[in-house]
Parts: sequence; C-alpha cells; structure tokens
Amino acid sequence: GLKKKEVNVLCLGLDNSGKTTIINQLKPSNAQAQDVVPTIGFSIEKFKTSSLSFTVFDMSGQGRYRNLWEHYYKEGQAIIFVIDSGDKLRMVVAKEELDTLLNHPDIKHRRIPILFFANKMDLRDALSAVKVSQLLCLENIKDKPWHICASDAVKGEGLQEGVDWLQGKYT
Ligand code: GTP
Ligand code: MG
Repeated sequence: GLKKKEVNVLCLGLDNSGKTTIINQLKPSNAQAQDVVPTIGFSIEKFKTSSLSFTVFDMSGQGRYRNLWEHYYKEGQAIIFVIDSGDKLRMVVAKEELDTLLNHPDIKHRRIPILFFANKMDLRDALSAVKVSQLLCLENIKDKPWHICASDAVKGEGLQEGVDWLQGKYT
C-alpha cells in the first residue's frame, strides 16, 4: 500500500501527568508496555493511524529533565501537551512550562498543531477540560491550531478523539 506520511510529535507536560500512559495506549496492543514507569530523559515511540505514522518524543516531565525539551523543538511537527486535571496545585507550573514553550524561538513563529489532553478526568476532583483551558489561557493561542480533550489514559478514554483531530491537521 501507500507509505504513510510521517509526523514527529513532541509529548510534553509535567511529570506524572500521564504522557507515557497515553502514548502506550496509542501503540498496537502487542507493542504496549505492561507497566508504565516514570520516564528518564526521553523515549522514542511509534504509533500509526489510518493515514499517518507518528514518531513520538515522549519526554520526561521531571524538573531536572525539562531543559531537554527544547533540543527537540526544531524536529517537532506537532505537540501533545498533557495536563493532570486533578493536580490543581501545579496547574500554575504547567502554565509556566506551556508559556515558556510557546515563546521559544523554535516554536513561536511556527503554525504547529497542539493537542492538549486534560488527563485523569476519572479523578473525583478533576477539573473539566473547559476549566483547564481557562487556567492555561489557551484562548490566547491565536497562531497555532489547538484542541483540548478530556481523557482517562488508564482506560484509554478520550484519546481517539484527540488523535483524530491531530490526524485531520495533516490530511
Ligand atoms: P514522567 O515520565 O515522569 O514525565 O510522567 P508521565 O507524564 O509520563 O506520567 P505516566 O504516564 O508515567 O503516569 C503517571 C501515573 O499516573 C501512573 O501511575 C499512571 O498510571 C497514572 N495515570 C496516567 N493517566 C491516568 C488517568 O487518566 N487517570 C488516573 N487515575 N491515573 C492516570
Ligand atoms: Mg513518562
């Protein structure tokens, strides 16, 4: 068949937000890890959709590794930014990291799509996707297509909607 178009995706967000769990769910079941552990540095993962082949840079969100993110910005053609919707205390830290990302010279003037997952929506006190988007001031992002989905990465809920949106930006 036709070779799928290849897209490099950066998966970013604070530690413990669920990045690796999300990427793991998007991989074919025979390639999924049994248990997800905190990422050290970063990990390169692949998954396919009907028309695209994604190569994901699954970055560690731990403070001591966040300075690695920017070295991959030039190669990124899309961003998946994951937020722990239950972590109200660190929402401001997530916003700071997002703002730093959006102002980086390798990102700032490029119209790359950003898919946000308001993850851990299953937690009893989770904020809604609308509330997360307000706290992160996503409406201020005017020069890039973006989309936010509520997700439960453990059950795999909400992920397909997000990936369908992302795929639509390339087809
Ligand atoms: P770093 O690699 O350290 O940056 O973290 P990460 O963003 O990759 O988080 P990871 O996928 O390792 O998940 C952290 C913890 O959150 C794990 O215990 C996951 O099982 C859990 N988790 C991930 N997604 C969800 C979710 O939607 N709901 C709940 N309740 N737990 C989740
Ligand atoms: Mg991880």
